[in-house]
Amino acid sequence: MGSPALIKTVAGARAWRAMRSRAGAGVALVPTMGNLHAGHAALIDAARRTADFVVVSVFVNPTQFGPGEDYASYPRTLEQDRTLAGEHEADAVFAPNAVEMYPNGLEEAVMVQAPAALAGILCGAQRPGHFTGVASVVARLLNIVQPEYALFGEKDYQQLLVIRRLAEDLFIDTGIVGVPTVREADGLALSSRNQYLTAGERARAPALYQALAAARDEMLAGAETAAVESRGRDVLSAAGFRPEYFEVRHGADLGPPRAGGPRVILAAGWLGKARLIDNIKIE
Ligand code: PAJ
Repeated sequence: MGSPALIKTVAGARAWRAMRSRAGAGVALVPTMGNLHAGHAALIDAARRTADFVVVSVFVNPTQFGPGEDYASYPRTLEQDRTLAGEHEADAVFAPNAVEMYPNGLEEAVMVQAPAALAGILCGAQRPGHFTGVASVVARLLNIVQPEYALFGEKDYQQLLVIRRLAEDLFIDTGIVGVPTVREADGLALSSRNQYLTAGERARAPALYQALAAARDEMLAGAETAAVESRGRDVLSAAGFRPEYFEVRHGADLGPPRAGGPRVILAAGWLGKARLIDNIKIE
């Protein structure tokens, strides 16, 4: 369980990849913005089970933050991240800077735009350009590392679908693997942004998952969708959230739910300075 190699350049990451055989189970990439917690650790563990070599990328991607969002203050904890990655037996940490990732500058960068039907709704409606930033950095990471697998959390359900579409539409030869959400004992999904909560807000934060679980139960009992969505928003407001959305959607494309298809309930809201998101499948 040694410390994973620390790679800071694209050339270094390409050289690392070139040394790892494409035979056998190959390389798995776990893209992150660092400040690693048990949710990220679950991705690294799943990667470990999936591939022979595991690389964790740590890059706070400027292009996915909107004006006034927390890019500057986002927690940067590379040494701790490297320790946690090592504890979960990652082989390498790729932590490039923005010049490495966007060599022509942010203004001149080629960007990858996901379709509005998938990326312009829910979080994408609240955060214009966010998923273009995500798709643009993940496309770069996949092209640099060329991993056999890349792992993403179901916590960011819409992001996972955008990345699946990215790989499919750009013929990127990487298997996209979704990993179930890791939660605190009280149900709150782990997130680097939970540390923005005051003690009082932290005590109320599990209301988000509780509202989703209650909504799932109501849907399974045959309740009407619009009523369930509106109750969900009311529950969040009553718990002190400023709700952004609480929606039942089709599980594969986030369109309106269709009879017999997979369904998921997605919610987002502000609690103090923290924007929290979560989701639950109806099954
Ligand atoms: P970040 O928020 O650091 O998350 C990195 C990965 O960890 C994502 O795939 C996310 O879904 C997953 N993750 C976060 N919390 C989780 C939890 N509680 N349980 C399971 N998985 C969890 O998401 C990003 O970074 C960025 O947008 C990125 C994909 C790296 C592109 O910049």
